[in-house]
Amino acid sequence: MSQTSGYADLDSIAERVERLASLEGKALEAEEIALLGRKSGIITAKLRSVAKLPLEERRSYGARLNELKVRADAILVQKRTASTNVDGLLVGADLTMPARRRWVGAEHPVTRVVDEIVEIFHGIGFTVAVGPEVETEWYNFLALNFPPDHPAMDMHDTLYLDAPPAKGEPGGRLLLRTHTSPVQIRALMQSPPPVRVVIPGMVYRNDAFDPSHSPAFSQIEGLAVDEGISFVDLKATLIHFAQRFFGPTTTTRFRPSFFPFTEPSAEMDVECQLCHGSGCPACKGTGWMEILGCGMVHPAVLENCNLDSERFTGWAFGMGPHRIAMLRYGIPDIRLLLEGDMRFLEQLGRKA
Ligand code: PHE
Repeated sequence: MSQTSGYADLDSIAERVERLASLEGKALEAEEIALLGRKSGIITAKLRSVAKLPLEERRSYGARLNELKVRADAILVQKRTASTNVDGLLVGADLTMPARRRWVGAEHPVTRVVDEIVEIFHGIGFTVAVGPEVETEWYNFLALNFPPDHPAMDMHDTLYLDAPPAKGEPGGRLLLRTHTSPVQIRALMQSPPPVRVVIPGMVYRNDAFDPSHSPAFSQIEGLAVDEGISFVDLKATLIHFAQRFFGPTTTTRFRPSFFPFTEPSAEMDVECQLCHGSGCPACKGTGWMEILGCGMVHPAVLENCNLDSERFTGWAFGMGPHRIAMLRYGIPDIRLLLEGDMRFLEQLGRKA
């Protein structure tokens, strides 16, 4: 391309085209626009005006101009391919910058707690059952022996839905379930005893969103119904669970409590996971942390499921994996477990 074309303007454009090969980055971009830009590129403009030239000039001038355009395009294509090579990419890169870390997925601490609880109960013959988060009043309250307007329902205030229940569903309004206990009813009505299930799931209550409360949180329920089941089975099973989950020397205690669907009822405490019983601010100096509610399934509940309460007995428990995760990992605020902030979650993450 070194010989002259006889057209001075084209010779100077030819030089600029050849120089494209030595340009990079912004300078290359600017020169590409200056030469080939659709609005004001010199080559583009000249190509447009070729039609106005006298015929004999049009041929040779036009041909030469076209050659320059083809050559420029070829150089640009070559430059672009080069910059997608590794060598090209390194141009202008700061090689001392640390590499960007890859994201490594991990289980959420609450998922991990639920999985471990399920695993422990699976080891002693329990299977998993689940139920709907939108329940009827019958499953959530009445079948569980909450008398209508009982004060125990105050703690279970929730959102009611405007839609009617599905055809054939026993009764009342639809609501967001306030505990996993309605799945006890579903499990018992679905298959006759022996029943041994654990029931994980989300529940909803009209609670504040503050360090220790949330209007949505998880529960995991346990239910064992068979012939000849006693409170001894309940205690032994839950102590076994606590020692598997928190450690083999973990001490527990049972305190009397009340739930409409269990009689007698209790709450189980484990020794404080931070001070191991000596008393600290986390356990308010008691040395104990409450982890679950439990009790013998109330005969009325069995009868509501068309089971003979003279023949069958059973026990149930319910605990909150969000709370258990807080106790286990010393997390001071439940909202940290619900907000999905990676800076927090990564600290507890385990390689999946
Ligand atoms: N459903 C109860 C609650 O949410 C917990 C519970 C479950 C108590 C099973 C006893 C037996 O408070």
